[in-house]
Amino acid sequence: MRVAVIGMGRVGLVTAACLAHVGHDVIGVDDDAERVAGMERGELPLLEPALEPLVREGRRAARLAFSSDLKATIRDRAVAFICVGIGHQPNGAADLSAVERVTRRIASAGSRDLLVVEKNTVPANTGAWIERTLAMYATSGARDIEVASNPEFLRQGSAVCDTLHPDRIVVGVGSPRAAGRLRELYAPILEGHFACPFHPACAPAGAVPFVVTSIQSAEVIKVASSAFLAAKISFVNMVADLSERVGADIAQVAEGMGLDGRIGGAFLQAGLGFGGPCLPRDVQAFVRLAEEMGVDFGFLREAVKVNARRIEAAAEKLRKALLTLQGKRIGLLGMAFKPHTDEVRHAPALALAAHLLQDGADVVAYDPRAGAAARNVLPRLVVADDPYAVAEGADALVLATEWPDFLSLDWARLRRAMRRPVLLDGRNALDREKLVAEGFEYLGMGR
Ligand code: UGA
Repeated sequence: MRVAVIGMGRVGLVTAACLAHVGHDVIGVDDDAERVAGMERGELPLLEPALEPLVREGRRAARLAFSSDLKATIRDRAVAFICVGIGHQPNGAADLSAVERVTRRIASAGSRDLLVVEKNTVPANTGAWIERTLAMYATSGARDIEVASNPEFLRQGSAVCDTLHPDRIVVGVGSPRAAGRLRELYAPILEGHFACPFHPACAPAGAVPFVVTSIQSAEVIKVASSAFLAAKISFVNMVADLSERVGADIAQVAEGMGLDGRIGGAFLQAGLGFGGPCLPRDVQAFVRLAEEMGVDFGFLREAVKVNARRIEAAAEKLRKALLTLQGKRIGLLGMAFKPHTDEVRHAPALALAAHLLQDGADVVAYDPRAGAAARNVLPRLVVADDPYAVAEGADALVLATEWPDFLSLDWARLRRAMRRPVLLDGRNALDREKLVAEGFEYLGMGR
């Protein structure tokens, strides 16, 4: 199928590369001509495991091309995904101007028989708004343009695998014809044949549920799913605080809870809380939608507050262990909001670093990928280019992002380099017994 994907951010580029991988003829469109030229040369604008070989493969097979000319490329396409970013206005409301710009250009391209699909996370009711905009700006040649919503559920760091074998594909449509076209588009993925050949942790998922809903339901499924995951994390973090008080271990508690099929073991990892560009944004969007619709979703506002308190709780643990943070040297392992990405937007690690700096500590941090980005966000942070440098003369070490590399560090060497052996495992990812045996004063989050 001939497909256009508009907006070459993470969602757009991963969608384009994966659809090309499963056999479609895909053009990735972006206004940024430099970005397009870079991608033509094989330079990706973002870090995402397994994406680079997939893009290379698509280009070599001539199934994936890039362009900055939306109008020219869209005319002969059957499906156009809108994957442009959503900004925010000063009052927190979504800024849909990029979506509007793209929609107007699609409308004036004179397409016939085109399915326009919103894929990036957008406020509920955006589908209806796109429909109205298309109708308003359609040129006389334009015919049979329909709108659908097909929310993505991909996670940074495993976006390729999440796309090639998702838990489900949700399509919000206005007609059986639109549903049929999307079913045809996703057929290779729905049949579960396409494992990601470049990523060792990837395995074929088997048949994938294809969920057909109204456009509004699909939009709500997206934000409600993210909000539920965020609430799940906040719930387990509260249980972690309680476990700590009663002498239980949240790792054991979460394991025992998660084995109940109704609860599920995913997203029960207690620690510094959730961050990144997506979950915090989606929760806020859901709270906002509820407010606008007159639904009091106080429960979700509480989940956001619980999350914000994780940073203070971690700082308090260090304060207790060191008596004061003033003048103390604290080493931070990890700055990205999660492993396998260089993304630091709303990263709990950086929120903690800012808090510690504010309280007078010196903070030295290391991250395998996110050092440069972190430096831009928090210039007062000293960024080291080696994890052992972080421990040099430190009064405490904090594991803030659970990069797998950190689990196999030479902890005896880190311990020797430190002034005091305080270790805060902000992600409950380390082997407590082993570290205690190495002489660390181990602090967990709910253990
Ligand atoms: C999230 C959702 O998981 C995706 O389904 C969704 O498509 C995406 O947002 C989006 O809206 O675009 P992502 O933000 O990439 O994906 O990362 P997650 O794996 O969900 O992690 C988010 C945060 O929660 C991270 O800071 C992570 O450390 C934290 N987390 C996650 C926990 O603290 N505990 C857990 O058990 C799981």
